[in-house]
Amino acid sequence: MEYKEHPNNKIKHWSEGIAYEIAFWNNVYRWKNTFSGMMGWSNHCQIIKLENFDCNRFLTSCQTEPNVLDIGCGMSYTTGNYIKPENGAQRAVNIHYVDPLAPFFNDILKRYSSRIKKRLGYMLPDIEFGMVEYISSFYPHNTVDLAIIQNALDHSALPIKGLLEAIECLKTGGKLYLNHHPNEAETEHYKGFHQYNINNENGKLIIWNKNERHDINSLISQFADITVSTGIDKHVIAVITKRNNVPCELLNHKEDKQYLCRQMMTEIINGTKINNFIKWKLKYWTYNIIQFFIQSLSWERKMKIKRLIKQTNDNNR
Ligand SMILES: C[S@@+](CC[C@H](N)C(=O)[O-])C[C@H]1O[C@@H](n2cnc3c(N)ncnc32)[C@H](O)[C@@H]1O
Repeated sequence: MEYKEHPNNKIKHWSEGIAYEIAFWNNVYRWKNTFSGMMGWSNHCQIIKLENFDCNRFLTSCQTEPNVLDIGCGMSYTTGNYIKPENGAQRAVNIHYVDPLAPFFNDILKRYSSRIKKRLGYMLPDIEFGMVEYISSFYPHNTVDLAIIQNALDHSALPIKGLLEAIECLKTGGKLYLNHHPNEAETEHYKGFHQYNINNENGKLIIWNKNERHDINSLISQFADITVSTGIDKHVIAVITKRNNVPCELLNHKEDKQYLCRQMMTEIINGTKINNFIKWKLKYWTYNIIQFFIQSLSWERKMKIKRLIKQTNDNNR
């Protein structure tokens, strides 16, 4: 049950993906057609639906009002936020949209609020700040019925820690739902947030990169059950059910505090250096200009290009 995943340098590496992510969403919301295309794809204000998992049934069977997290939600609002009991009316569910880039994303929501209201007739909910690696400090243990992570665990700095922390938040019997592109870091050549691959190897959930390999089925076997399946476009889907608390030796909150204090000091020191500030601004504006043109294309054309790139990558493997 031991695992080694040292945070040194990983958060720094991770932070290098931030500029791209903000520039991407800023331009998705900037262009009317792209924003409309994305909202057509989103499930906001619809019944919650997850591939290979009947989450509506699971949530309607909860004894109390279900508490749901969408961790690493981005700005796509892909997860529906209504449930419908078999013999009852549909109703909104308490869903927290969580992302470490929440302060930036909420600025984007504010900037384009009139476009959002005009297209949808209402305002999209704000995003709450939280990082999957420390999520049990944001949503205390044993309080969550369903945690959803889609295309985000492999974007985090410490995915194994993130996964354990997400299980820690769950009530006993609660579910962690994961849905990810297979081996995304390989596809994206280990750029930006893409430092880890997630794969389904004969029913085992494997998280790996060039330096590490973790078999999640055996790591969590003493306190959780896991079902791994394959979805559309070979997506790797895992449904994890918590049986017991995550053992303390796997989650060291004291070590976390020490590490985060060091990280804070490093960032303060870095922040005093003018060249870091210029580097960050240059990087953000370069991505922002590139994304300005990319996101001006229609949603359908972008999806077509994405499919073509994927096909080429698959053929080259
Ligand atoms: C590709 S987007 C996916 C957004 C959304 N879940 C979807 O499927 O449309 C990846 C998201 O993961 C978030 N992310 C990156 N690192 C994270 C971390 N350590 N904890 C939680 N979310 C993280 C990013 O900010 C980004 O919004």
